[in-house]
Amino acid sequence: MGEPQPILEPLTPAAIFVVVTIDEGGEETVRNLLADINGLRRSIGFRVPGAGLTCITSIGSAAWDRLFAGHKPAELHDFPGFTGARHTAPATPGDVLFHLKAESHDACFELAMTIADRLAGAATIVDETVGFRYFEQRDLLGFVDGTENPEGRAATAAALIGDEDPNFAGGSYVIVQKYTHRLADWRALPVEEQQQVIGRTKLADVELSDDDKPANSHVAINTLIDPDGSQLQILRANMPFGSVADGEFGTYYIAYAATPSVTERMLSRMFLGTDRAAYDRILDFSVAVTGTSFFTPTIDFLDNLPSAPWEPTQLAPPGGEADPPSPSGTPPNSTTGALGIGTLKRSSRS
Ligand code: HEM
Repeated sequence: MGEPQPILEPLTPAAIFVVVTIDEGGEETVRNLLADINGLRRSIGFRVPGAGLTCITSIGSAAWDRLFAGHKPAELHDFPGFTGARHTAPATPGDVLFHLKAESHDACFELAMTIADRLAGAATIVDETVGFRYFEQRDLLGFVDGTENPEGRAATAAALIGDEDPNFAGGSYVIVQKYTHRLADWRALPVEEQQQVIGRTKLADVELSDDDKPANSHVAINTLIDPDGSQLQILRANMPFGSVADGEFGTYYIAYAATPSVTERMLSRMFLGTDRAAYDRILDFSVAVTGTSFFTPTIDFLDNLPSAPWEPTQLAPPGGEADPPSPSGTPPNSTTGALGIGTLKRSSRS
């Protein structure tokens, strides 16, 4: 298994989520950034001792085809979207996701700024969400979020690809969704009823008993048991975000999994319901405004990117030059790989 990106690292007080789409012809610049991203993270992280800056970089399905020749992760596909009778999870654009985490915002911000500089003219930032820790890892509904995440070996099994896709072992599938909360409606509910919506107690964060937990509670809907009795799990790293000026109060949902099918099953249950519930009651108070799927390759993959689709194939026919396919919009002389940290390309903005 290649070395995974820091998916299993614990949550931090600060996070920034940046989603970009790649402009036509921007592929080479994006590839160069992917190859340099770990070096950039290291040089910024080293300047902020104790910040523990990490960056997890993930790539969408259509972008994969534009950036890389060769193998593709077996289950990489676009976010399907879910339309229930009452609530909808839209699919929204996104080619690359940068999930930045640190003990302090400055470290995340410096790396986000560097990423934006490097991508200027080559990619468009379609979403930037600044997440923050809210008390004891609570969401803005006031409940502790993340308690039942798997730990240790269970976390590795839930989040990282193993032998089932050997070319991509150590990788992961990640789904992000931005939710905004109807906070006034939520606050109007007595705490007792809020607990029925979530399926846990609010202050002490204890799961309600099976008798007390409604079938449409968030915890009941998202407890997936396989026929063999084992629980299907994902690794969530949600963060609150918001703006008092805009009256926006949200949860940035992000979950890593060895297969996107587990998260998609959970979403199907939340939005389309189960045989015992019409939909997840949390959706009466939380509106999904984005939804995008990505693949998180290993660090080794980023350090040694496969050839680009427009590059000549390694095996040119004897005596003849390979005739590289040249998709429209790709730069004509785009044959270089990483620029290397010592020779960073200067963007026009810097
Ligand atoms: C508005 C967005 C969301 C909020 C505020 C939220 C909040 C919570 C809270 C407070 C818990 C209970 C504590 C815990 O174990 O973490 C929880 C559990 C959970 N949530 Fe969410 N969640 C959201 C969206 C989602 C989505 C979209 C999924 C899956 C696609 C999901 C999957 C889960 C799972 C698997 C659990 C653990 C269930 C268990 O084993 O007990 N959540 N969530």
